[in-house]
Amino acid sequence: MRSLFRMKSLDELIGDSGRADHQLQRTLGPVHLTSLGIGAIVGAGIFSTVGTAAAGGSGHVGAGPALALSFILVAVACAFAAFCYAEFAAMVPVSGSAYTYAYATLGELVAWIIGWDLILEYAIGNVAVAISWSDYFQSLLRGLQIAWPVWLGVDYRSALQAAQKMTETQSLQADLSALDSTVLRDAQALSDAPRILGIPIIFDLPAVLIVALVTWVLVRGIRESAAFNTSMVILKLVFIGVFIFAGAFYVRPENWQPFAPNGFAGISSAAAIIFFAYIGFDAISTAAEETREPQRNMPIGILASLIVCTAIYMAVALVLTGMVKWNQFQGVADPLAKAFADRGLNWMAGFMSFGALFATTSVLLVFQLGQPRIFLSMARDGLLPNWAARVHPKFRTPHLSTILTGVIVAGFSAVMNINEVVELCNIGTLFAFALVAAGILVLRRADPNRSRPFRTPFCPWVPLGAIASCLWLMVELPWITWIRFILWLGIGLAIYFGYGYRNARRSEEASSPSGT
Ligand code: ALA
Repeated sequence: MRSLFRMKSLDELIGDSGRADHQLQRTLGPVHLTSLGIGAIVGAGIFSTVGTAAAGGSGHVGAGPALALSFILVAVACAFAAFCYAEFAAMVPVSGSAYTYAYATLGELVAWIIGWDLILEYAIGNVAVAISWSDYFQSLLRGLQIAWPVWLGVDYRSALQAAQKMTETQSLQADLSALDSTVLRDAQALSDAPRILGIPIIFDLPAVLIVALVTWVLVRGIRESAAFNTSMVILKLVFIGVFIFAGAFYVRPENWQPFAPNGFAGISSAAAIIFFAYIGFDAISTAAEETREPQRNMPIGILASLIVCTAIYMAVALVLTGMVKWNQFQGVADPLAKAFADRGLNWMAGFMSFGALFATTSVLLVFQLGQPRIFLSMARDGLLPNWAARVHPKFRTPHLSTILTGVIVAGFSAVMNINEVVELCNIGTLFAFALVAAGILVLRRADPNRSRPFRTPFCPWVPLGAIASCLWLMVELPWITWIRFILWLGIGLAIYFGYGYRNARRSEEASSPSGT
């Protein structure tokens, strides 16, 4: 029983990362880190999920123009969590993020649970981003009049649901043209798809291809990846800047009335969705081991990227709901493009779709970078097989776990539905944030004298605020998401007791001086 709660001391964790065959290069500074943060944060959330958040749908009530308030509330929740992450990241500048922090404070079992849970944030989150990338890619191709087979651009379940919706509409003898164009397109995938043994072949090929490209870039090396990311970040900030400044000319203040059509219920329900738009600032902490002067640069990177993104999101929410009446965004996957298209500015709409491709690519890059580093930390501790911790002799990157992550993300993004994936990612990430905040409280008591280059202000109130706000957002998510999340944790526990627990003991014995 005691070994379930075995902790790894912080010194031991920092020491482990020094092994030559497991060592990464320290090349990242504060600007790289802030850019890595913005790279992870601004993406599918602001380009896609704001539509559903403003108008409602998929089991949520819309916030209307008060979406800007949802962004403030979520920013406060994230700021609480960011302070906790910054304290840990500066104190434990080792790859692995929340997983590593949990190992040092809450014991091996909780660390495993977080490590497993973080797959929802990083890998499953990236599945959603890859699907969103593919949607924008296909919409751009349509705009350029280039035909792309529909059965190679959607998941099987969405195609099936669309076909059912169409059959229902037909049986009611209702007008098919009243259906959303996405439904008509997805339903067509089922009739167009080639069949093998009678089974229709339907999958999202562009999502697979973009994940493969990003994986290749990351295997080549962190320095090249950071430079690639910085250029992507600059480009997406330009695109968002153009949206805000050009869109401001088309704002009709009467669209802001009523400001909060569904009151606080709408604001909180939207908050639980657009939380996705903020996920990413914590991904910076996974690069701690590749950071110069992490004690100083980590907190700067985390907080700076959070502040910049909050300002951008509020501006986008106000301009968007000022340009087009909030309830017209229902079922719209490309709200920033629609806002211009509705004014007849199709070239601006195309420009926004193009921007979305850049934005989502840089998010993919940071998350594909974070996940293997968490696998690497877990493998070092014996919770995953040792090969996952191997670093490429020339590129100094964890190539095997990077490729494994690429295969998982590409595989799921080929077949999964974006809305369900976003909610699953949100619940998993919120749970991890709450556990990290709990870790700060535990460590302040258990090891009060340890040097803390960055201290969470107003402790215990800020960590308690983080825990409370994460739980509030989790409660706002639909029950089906809770069931999926609990199932996911159940599978994780089965793997831990079937493999991780015993293997961690074996690797511990092998590395102890008295071990044989
Ligand atoms: N925050 C990231 C995005 O919006 C996950 O794409």
